Amino acid sequence: MPYLSAITDEQTETLISDVLQLYGYDFTGYSRASLKRRLNRLYSLDRQVSFAEFRYKINNDSVYFKRFVEQITVNVTEMFRDPNFYKALRNKVLPSLGTYPFIRIWLAGCSTGEEAYSMAIVLQELNLLKKALIYATDINPTVLEKAAQGMFPLSQMKQYSENYIESGGTKDFSSYYSANYSLAKFNSELRDKMIFSTHNLVSDHSFNEFQLILCRNVLIYFDRDLQYKVLQLFDGSLEKLGYLALGTKETTDFSPISKRYVRLDTDKIWRKMV
Ligand SMILES: C[S@@+](CC[C@H](N)C(=O)[O-])C[C@H]1O[C@@H](n2cnc3c(N)ncnc32)[C@H](O)[C@@H]1O
Repeated sequence: MPYLSAITDEQTETLISDVLQLYGYDFTGYSRASLKRRLNRLYSLDRQVSFAEFRYKINNDSVYFKRFVEQITVNVTEMFRDPNFYKALRNKVLPSLGTYPFIRIWLAGCSTGEEAYSMAIVLQELNLLKKALIYATDINPTVLEKAAQGMFPLSQMKQYSENYIESGGTKDFSSYYSANYSLAKFNSELRDKMIFSTHNLVSDHSFNEFQLILCRNVLIYFDRDLQYKVLQLFDGSLEKLGYLALGTKETTDFSPISKRYVRLDTDKIWRKMV
């Protein structure tokens, strides 16, 4: 692929520094390999002819800058992603939170919302949805707009239904949505328990105290220092005996918070002990 070497390491640093100074978005702690890949992808997709022009557009065109943020953050997601994780959530985590009068859940880096609707379905099946509130946040406002609509391609429903069943779901998955042309519109009682809001894990503070925080497949794009900083943010936002869930390739091990947490079996779920 010819575009692979279009943007150099030095140019990547130049863009990171521009964007921080001009827009306040801090990508300095993002892992360079993936960032450079995404920059090169955008450069090629938009048929940029020179780095100077690419840089000028990012720095001077706010609409293009929005596209830049959308394109350099990876938004891939799915419903009931890693079904075993949802099985652990259903069988171990949520039942233990079920004794609380109110359950506040933070989904950090929720992308287009598939994770939020999956969570709401499990809560509903455990009869906990009415006392739960799901705060779903992301750096990227465009994905949040999609998430708030609760509509996903109908073509994905077969895969999502299989994930749901593998995760321990026993209902007819299609009872959770109505088909509308090529889209599946999820039931509004699921959406009613979600609050979508922009939140930048690099620069924004904690905004509440939670019993459960999910941040799956986000830290993987950050370097070690930024991962540790974000884990501290979660630690400060989690109640004692609350749970923190990460993605399959992520861990709290070796981070400053790790000594206060106990891992649940082999799952990527940790419980805050002190
Ligand atoms: C690969 S998706 C993961 C979605 C979902 N959690 C899952 O596991 O399927 C990563 C998400 O993290 C978001 N993200 C990246 N940097 C972020 C930041 N600094 N603050 C908040 N969200 C961020 C991206 O916009 C993207 O939607």
